[in-house]
Amino acid sequence: MRKIGIFGASGMAREAGDIAWALGFEPLYIAGNKAEQRAWSYPGTVILEENVEQFSTLPFVIGIGENSIRRKVAERFSSHLQFTNLIHPSATFGRDQRERLERCQGLIIAAGVRLTSSIEVGNFAILNQNVTVAHDCVVEDYVHIAPGANVSGNVRLREGCWVGAGAVINQGGSDKKLTVNNWALVGSGAVVVRDCEPNVVYAGVPAKRIK
Ligand SMILES: CC(C)(COP(=O)(O)OP(=O)(O)OC[C@H]1O[C@@H](n2cnc3c(N)ncnc32)[C@H](O)[C@@H]1OP(=O)(O)O)[C@@H](O)C(=O)NCCC(=O)NCCS
Repeated sequence: MRKIGIFGASGMAREAGDIAWALGFEPLYIAGNKAEQRAWSYPGTVILEENVEQFSTLPFVIGIGENSIRRKVAERFSSHLQFTNLIHPSATFGRDQRERLERCQGLIIAAGVRLTSSIEVGNFAILNQNVTVAHDCVVEDYVHIAPGANVSGNVRLREGCWVGAGAVINQGGSDKKLTVNNWALVGSGAVVVRDCEPNVVYAGVPAKRIK
């Protein structure tokens, strides 16, 4: 069986590993330290990050949900490891969308995701279970869209932002996309009706700044 390296030893790594199994890969998990390695209690082999170079011919993904940590790992290893995309077979796409995604690296697209058409997606984004993203959206690098969130058409999710579980992002306009700015955090269940500032936490219906 083909192997794939998955950085991380937490819940997101196990979920990424399950997608890998569904695609016919055997996951090799990569723990950041010995404590994480010891705490592992799931089927599959776990190696230490310091030994990852021994497996440098494998494809890799980063199964770490926290966007800033995923970025650190990507920046450390991108120059010498080959990052691939992990797309669950049950994800479905508009006509040209699958080809667009193949140009990315390090994407994780979980079961039940639906992307319609003309959506630009960056590298190392995570689209978690049952997320929908509609036409003409832009999802930049290191974005995480948590389970069940719905992103309407003409929305821009800037680098590193987090869209919480079950949140809704209302549509933008074809002349001006509704924008969730860099590293903003949208809480679970929020309904975003206007632009979100960078590095700010939003929650509620309609979403308001809480931090
Ligand atoms: C919004 C969020 C980031 C805030 O987390 P936090 O900074 O730790 O904030 P706190 O838990 O201290 O809550 C601060 C206030 O916001 C409220 N609040 C927290 N999350 C909220 C949410 N999703 N919707 C509405 N209000 C929320 C709290 O009740 C609290 O209100 P209070 O001050 O009146 O008591 C977090 O609750 C959240 O929703 N995270 C996303 C979770 C998610 O999507 N998980 C998916 C995993 S894959």
